[in-house]
Amino acid sequence: MILITKEKEGNFTPFALPPSLQLGSATASLQIEGGDKGNNWYRFCEEGRVKDGSHCIVADDHWNRYEEDIALMKQLNHKVYRMSIEWSRIEPERGNYLEAPLVHYRKMIQIMLEQDIQPLVTLHHFSEPIWFEDMGGWTNLESVEIFTSFTEKVVSFLGDLVGEWITINEPNVYLESTYSSAIFPPEKPSMRNYFKGLKNMAAAHIMTYKQIHHLRSEMGFSSGTKVGVAIHIRVFDAEKKGVLSKLPRALLEHNFHTIFLESMIKGKFLFPIGLGGYPYGKGTYCDFFGVNYYSRDIVKFTWDPRRLFSELLVRKEAEINDMGWEIYPEGLYRVCEKYFRLYKQPIYITENGICDATDAQRTAFIYDHLKVVARLVENGVPVEKYYHWSLLDNFEWDEGLQRRFGLIEVNYETLTRTIRRSGQFYGELAKENEVTEAMIEKFLNQ
Ligand code: NOJ
Repeated sequence: MILITKEKEGNFTPFALPPSLQLGSATASLQIEGGDKGNNWYRFCEEGRVKDGSHCIVADDHWNRYEEDIALMKQLNHKVYRMSIEWSRIEPERGNYLEAPLVHYRKMIQIMLEQDIQPLVTLHHFSEPIWFEDMGGWTNLESVEIFTSFTEKVVSFLGDLVGEWITINEPNVYLESTYSSAIFPPEKPSMRNYFKGLKNMAAAHIMTYKQIHHLRSEMGFSSGTKVGVAIHIRVFDAEKKGVLSKLPRALLEHNFHTIFLESMIKGKFLFPIGLGGYPYGKGTYCDFFGVNYYSRDIVKFTWDPRRLFSELLVRKEAEINDMGWEIYPEGLYRVCEKYFRLYKQPIYITENGICDATDAQRTAFIYDHLKVVARLVENGVPVEKYYHWSLLDNFEWDEGLQRRFGLIEVNYETLTRTIRRSGQFYGELAKENEVTEAMIEKFLNQ
């Protein structure tokens, strides 16, 4: 087991967080709610496709236990919370919208607001209605209009309570996992569909960006509307210096980051989804830069065009988490600094966290990454919010329930929640807005 190593011990020093930084955590509906049978992940689980054989039908039973979970957020001194809406609950059949689930979400959000926790709501976080997947999902041109209508329903209903929205979570991971590695349903790889999906997702993002602003201003909110995407940004470092290592790295950067960012933030459709033009007009279609950051990959050349000539490795001697991902806090610095320079948007770290079942690494992970955030702000990079992934242990997609990302441990037999030591640390940090000597003694140097 990797623990806070002896070398690290004693290296922890107090630091203050920027006073303007707001801390909280993030979740996604399918991963925590349970109870919905209309979504494509329910079907995937029913077909026994999840690696550990587990199922999302109960997950954390958050749908019924949200009051307890909001009380836990409060206990951990959250100022902000990122959640998502389960599309198939609202629109179980195409064009047939139900109000009851929206009323439920409204109640949930009202309780959060009463606790002074500001929500950031995601409209599409990987899962989608079965009927949507069966019509080709995002590869179908109609997806743009369908998603726009769904967004209109949700925002019309909740827009008076919620000013901050994410249209689509990690479109790059969604498309990679659906059409390239094809570990997500419907497990049908096709690079053609990867780019078709991207074109439609970018269009849907731009449409809904405009629409959310329009709806909120019609409701009388002249300020406070913030809309963006949450992009998964990885650090890709070439294995070696020569061209053969630089080529796959450049291809990955382009296909996994740049075409997403340019289309969704600027409206610029780069090859192969366009030729650099602006089919929906030149603009800025994000009010913040939402970054989900976890790790870095070392990119090695391989003779396989379907994998963009790249093999992803983990740096030798790197400390890794339970998923085998390198723990690389400096990557968060590199990513935020780079994209602030390019897009000049305030940054929300919409996800950052660690899969760590024994909780041996999470406290130091939080310490290291928040120290980076403090340094970013000090150096003029405006990181405004940090959402730790995740509040609770949850259903980690194709990996299932065995993977543990929570500040709070969930016992899946009893559904009991227990705040981990790292969760206590995070809670104190959020309260004090600084890491003190006493906190280091209590949580890190033992
Ligand atoms: C990003 C995804 O948005 C989230 O759903 C997932 O659980 C985490 N990464 C961890 O893999």
